[in-house]
Amino acid sequence: MTIKRVGVVGSGIMGGGITEVAALAGHEVILRSRELATAEGTLARVERSLDKRVDKGTLSPEDRVDTAARITVTSNLHDLAECDLVIESVVEDLATKRHVFSELDRICRDHTILATNTSTLPVVEMAMETGRPEKVCGIHFFNPAPLMALIEIVRPITADDETVQEAKAFAESCGKTAVMVKDQAGFIVNALLFPYLNNAVRLLEQGVASLEDIDEAMKGGCGFPMGPFALLDLVGLDTSVAILDALYDEHRDPNYAAMPRLRRMVAAERLGRKTGEGFYSYSRS
Ligand SMILES: NC(=O)c1ccc[n+]([C@@H]2O[C@H](COP(=O)([O-])OP(=O)(O)OC[C@H]3O[C@@H](n4cnc5c(N)ncnc54)[C@H](O)[C@@H]3O)[C@@H](O)[C@H]2O)c1
Repeated sequence: MTIKRVGVVGSGIMGGGITEVAALAGHEVILRSRELATAEGTLARVERSLDKRVDKGTLSPEDRVDTAARITVTSNLHDLAECDLVIESVVEDLATKRHVFSELDRICRDHTILATNTSTLPVVEMAMETGRPEKVCGIHFFNPAPLMALIEIVRPITADDETVQEAKAFAESCGKTAVMVKDQAGFIVNALLFPYLNNAVRLLEQGVASLEDIDEAMKGGCGFPMGPFALLDLVGLDTSVAILDALYDEHRDPNYAAMPRLRRMVAAERLGRKTGEGFYSYSRS
């Protein structure tokens, strides 16, 4: 099977980025959000990003028009029935994702591959909500999806070879490098990244240095493109706590126990860039 039509469920930070990547790669994309206005807002964000590519000279005006024309938005999950691949990218909460998978299984054609963009949650549990567990895998993009080169293809024990090979081919069609990984919390990148981010908050709480200096230190000393606090703000603190909780649940390693300060910031709705306030302040456009 060649993947032509792609459904994206969830129009947050990642849903919008995945939509842009897949449409640029020549796929038809249907973006579904619970509220049509939200999906339209995400489409406008994608279109602004395409405009920036035209301004930079990396996308021709004709290709910009064609790319945008390949994207449609909907609030009705049934509109994803004819997709070859659906990528779920809703909030990092297992119960919510399981519900989405059971609905998609009811709606989508038998050949449709159902994938999740989860950062840490057990893909097998989503697969077992469906009558097609062999056709369920993880396709884990990184943030911002249009810029980051990597995709982790996550293989639960239930998936068949064809499904993971199709998922890999899709990732490569999007110009990404695909790595294969087992369905274990955090996969490769987040299993290694999140203890580091959490320990940066620990250093801050211990008063070892200011957050600006910790960020500067990791950029200048390790060559990282951004420091840990700028990265936590980019990921979103709610998503970061959900990732740490899933890692801790599975591994019981204290490095994964989310620092209390992160939870307090989530309670205060200081989620990072998406709310305009996190470790840093952002002017909201
Ligand atoms: N933020 C990152 O850096 C990043 C990177 C890779 C993967 N991910 C994963 O991508 C997924 C989405 O994360 P995000 O950063 O886009 O989050 P986000 O907060 O920007 O968006 C979450 C989306 O889920 C929707 N949603 C919330 N509750 C829902 C429900 N009950 N039913 C259906 N939709 C619901 C929201 O309306 C929103 O559109 C998560 O699984 C996350 O772990 C995030």
